Amino acid sequence: MNANIDALTRSVLEQMGRTPAPRLRQIMQSAVRHLHAFAEEVELTPEEWLAGIAFFTATGQMCSADRQEFILLSDTLGLSSLVNLLHDCGGLEQATESSVLGPFYRETAPRLAAGDSIARIAQGGTAVQYYGRVTDVQGRPLPGAQVQIWQTDADGWYDIQLHDQELVDMRGNFTCDENGWYLARSVLPKSYPLPADGPVRRMLDAQERHGYRPAHIHFLISAEGHKELVTALYLEGDPYLESDTVFGVTSAELVVAPKQDEAAPIRELPAIRYDFRLARGSAESGRVGADVSKINLG
Ligand code: BEZ
Ligand code: FE
Repeated sequence: MNANIDALTRSVLEQMGRTPAPRLRQIMQSAVRHLHAFAEEVELTPEEWLAGIAFFTATGQMCSADRQEFILLSDTLGLSSLVNLLHDCGGLEQATESSVLGPFYRETAPRLAAGDSIARIAQGGTAVQYYGRVTDVQGRPLPGAQVQIWQTDADGWYDIQLHDQELVDMRGNFTCDENGWYLARSVLPKSYPLPADGPVRRMLDAQERHGYRPAHIHFLISAEGHKELVTALYLEGDPYLESDTVFGVTSAELVVAPKQDEAAPIRELPAIRYDFRLARGSAESGRVGADVSKINLG
């Protein structure tokens, strides 16, 4: 029986061996080797594989112009974080650690002035200031760097979960000053559960996973001649910090706590100071993200 299985795997690899594009050949042959080994290891039954196909079908059917269930699946399998980590390892320069982009990024964040609050509609919560410098890996400031910030409100909701698309809240674009400083006001975010209405949620339930992300603040930072940085800061003490459902807390370096800070620009507010380091390179970050409009559906 094993000889037949080996012969089957070999003949699939042989057919694919004629693929002219070398990278496609490498990826597909490796995928087939691992897929066949996986099916063999778990002795996959026809009923189980049909259940798997039904799951992937439902995942595809859940996708729309503004919902990408396959990215959510990739996130909850840790694959998005793995691919991003592999991407970051490729660089020689030690930039700030990255984190997942997530499905709540929007290109429509308003341009705000230094010190403005991104909480423009949301009420309540603990007021806070975020400030720091954007520099290159040598610590040289990057004047004019763009800092986009987005997060949940104090109850754990993103604007698009609460309002029509036109109402934008808890997000903003800031421009660093001539010394690379940025400053924004906000309120502390809260941990929140992933969407509860799709096949990925059903998978999490079957695995008895809580499905929460720890409270975090997303940052997308860009500066000319430097690689775009997509990252997030996570609040110390959050109960889900060690068990993030999408494995976004890739480094202790990204865990922060608000404190009273004499050096902070706004005296009366607790501060989270964070300095971001950008590696040199082209702007395109090439990350696994949920900017669904950029996915080529053929
Ligand atoms: C988020 O942080 O917004 C997020 C990231 C990955 C999956 C779901 C949500
Ligand atoms: Fe998020």
